[in-house]
Order: sequence, then structure tokens, then C-alpha cells
Amino acid sequence: MARLPFLVRSLLGWYRRNARKLPWRLTTDPYAIWISEVMLQQTQVRTVIPYWNRWMRRFPSIRSLARAKVSEVLRCWAGLGYYTRARNLQSAARLIVSNHVGNFPRNFGDIIALPGVGRYTAGAICSIAFNQPAPVLDGNVTRVLARIFGITTDPKETRTKGRLWDLAQHLVSHAAKYQKPKTRPCADLNQALMELGATVCTPRQPQCPKCPCRRYCRARKEHRVAEIPAKTVRPKSLHRWAAAFAINRDGRFLVRQRSSGEINAYLWEFPNLETNSPVSKVQSVAHRCLGFRPRSIQPFCVVAHTIMRHRIRLEVFTGTTNGPWTGQGRNARWCTLKQLHQLAFPSAHRKILQALEAKAGPQKPPR
Ligand code: ADE
Repeated sequence: MARLPFLVRSLLGWYRRNARKLPWRLTTDPYAIWISEVMLQQTQVRTVIPYWNRWMRRFPSIRSLARAKVSEVLRCWAGLGYYTRARNLQSAARLIVSNHVGNFPRNFGDIIALPGVGRYTAGAICSIAFNQPAPVLDGNVTRVLARIFGITTDPKETRTKGRLWDLAQHLVSHAAKYQKPKTRPCADLNQALMELGATVCTPRQPQCPKCPCRRYCRARKEHRVAEIPAKTVRPKSLHRWAAAFAINRDGRFLVRQRSSGEINAYLWEFPNLETNSPVSKVQSVAHRCLGFRPRSIQPFCVVAHTIMRHRIRLEVFTGTTNGPWTGQGRNARWCTLKQLHQLAFPSAHRKILQALEAKAGPQKPPR
């Protein structure tokens, strides 16, 4: 690993000159960094920025998150998906209040013991917030390291993963040797790897001429950049169908809340059920789903969404009723569009709400 010192110095210099100005980079507050890292596991930087800003305004401290209502936490997360992550954030905040008097722990072992925190997140918090030489390995870092070190085996395999974690550890430990007053080389080295993967060493059409590691990169030297990292063979997607109903009673729509212990626990949704094929007998599906027969059922829109390897085609129907019916045992409400906007929906149902709002046009005040 004779290249290590050159590599680390090039990465640190490049990061100093090229780091994007992201809001969570203006702080070393471990709480703020933790929130950003968990959000960034879901989606891209561009999407995360407004979510992170809103979250930090609404829950500026660990204590404020710990004492918030679950519904409020989910509402702030709504649209990011994987809602257990939001619930884990709150459970972890409560644990920090009870076990660490509300101060974010500094020790890797204490951090990784928090609900929802794995090796990547613990490493990111230790390095970015506390400048400790803890490694990180996410998809971007995997790609960068696999290319630089010419690793051709599948990075999802345990052995290869172990090798990549070791390399990440070597790099950040070496970075720690460049510690000078007022510098944060471990934080910068890890973020340099992430940033390089996000902006230069991209999966397709990487910009090798702009890369600070181009002189040390094995994949580039061997003209194998496009082949590395090795593609994991994905299991085949499974196609599924479902139907959802947006039933209107005097300007209010029926929604139901999912129970604890279910997937998407506590989130709200339009009544829906899985069908084994595209809907043909809509009246009977509606009756099965709702427990009553709505009037004027019409196809409204189709929402395509993917959960892991399941590709779900959700056919949405509108209808009306004047009955008193509710949730068939579930927590259910009849809400105006404005009230629906205050609830936490999984993203497929948020899309239904957006389509209803678009159709309704500007809102009259609710009655
Ligand atoms: N992805 C995950 N964490 C990141 C960070 N701190 N900076 C840029 N991209 C990231």
C-alpha cells in the first residue's frame, strides 16, 4: 500500500477545493449529522436538503425528538420511505435521553448500540461529528475503493466486503496522521470518498480526468472502469397488482391508519387491497375492500411503485357514498384534502393525494 499517503493527501486536497456546501456540513453537532446520514441512506442529496432543514426546525434537539408524538415524527419523514427509520430515530433519541442524559454518545460501541444504527452510520457519525478514525462504506465509497484498488469480485460477498472495510479503515487511519490544529482529516477523508463517488466516480460515465485519484487508480490503468464494481445479480422482479379507493363523502375522503406491528405502522392510506391481476370486477373488489358499495366508481389513476423486488401496479378508483361507514376495525377518518395533507402517507398514497389535489384545483375552506 505504498500509494496510501499520496492517495490520502490527494483526496483531502480535492475535498477542500470541491466539497459541496451542504447544510449539515456547517455543523459538527452529532445529532444533526446523524439525521442527515439516515436521510441520505434513502435518497439523493437534492431531495434530502429540504427534509433535513424542516426536520431540524421542527426537532432541533435530541430531547425535542424524544418527546414528540410519533405521528408528528412520521409526518416530517413522509415521502422519504422506509418509515421504520424514522421510528428508530425517535427510539434512539429516547434512549439517548434515558441512558446518556440527552448527550449524543461519542463512543463507537455506544453509537452502534442505538436502534437503527449500523456500521456505516456509526462510522459516519464518529468520523464526521467527532473526527475519529472510523471507516465508512456505502455504495459510493464501495465504487470508489473497488475502482482504485481494482477489486473485481462482487462487493456484496462477505469476503470482498471485509476487504473493502479494511481498505476504508486504512485510509481513514492514515488520514488521522495529518491531524493539525483546526483541521478534521478523518471527517474530510470519509466525506471526500462519499463526495467523489457522488460527483466524479459515478456508476456511469465517470469523469476520470477530474479525479484526484486518477494516477493511483487500477481500474483506470487497466481500462476496466466500466466493469468495476462487479454487478450483483439481482433476483427477478415480482409483479403484483393492487386496488385503492378514494371515496368521497361530502368533500371528505376515507383513509385508514395501519396498526402497530404491520409494515408501514401508523401511516395513513386510502383503503386498498391486493388483487391477483388487473381489476376486472371493480364493484366486488370495492365491496371486499371497503365493506360497503360505493356509487359512481371510476378509474382515476395508476400508481406504479417498487418495494424491494416487488413491482406493484396500484389501480386507483374514485367513488362516492353517503353512508356512515368507516374502517372495518381499523382506525379510520373522513378527511378533507387539507386535513389529509397533515397526515403521514407512504409515498404511493401521497401520490394519490397529489392527484386528487391536482384534480380538485385550488381548495375551498373545509366545511
Ligand atoms: N452520502 C451519505 N453521507 C454523505 C455525506 N456526508 N456527504 C455526501 N454524501 C453523502
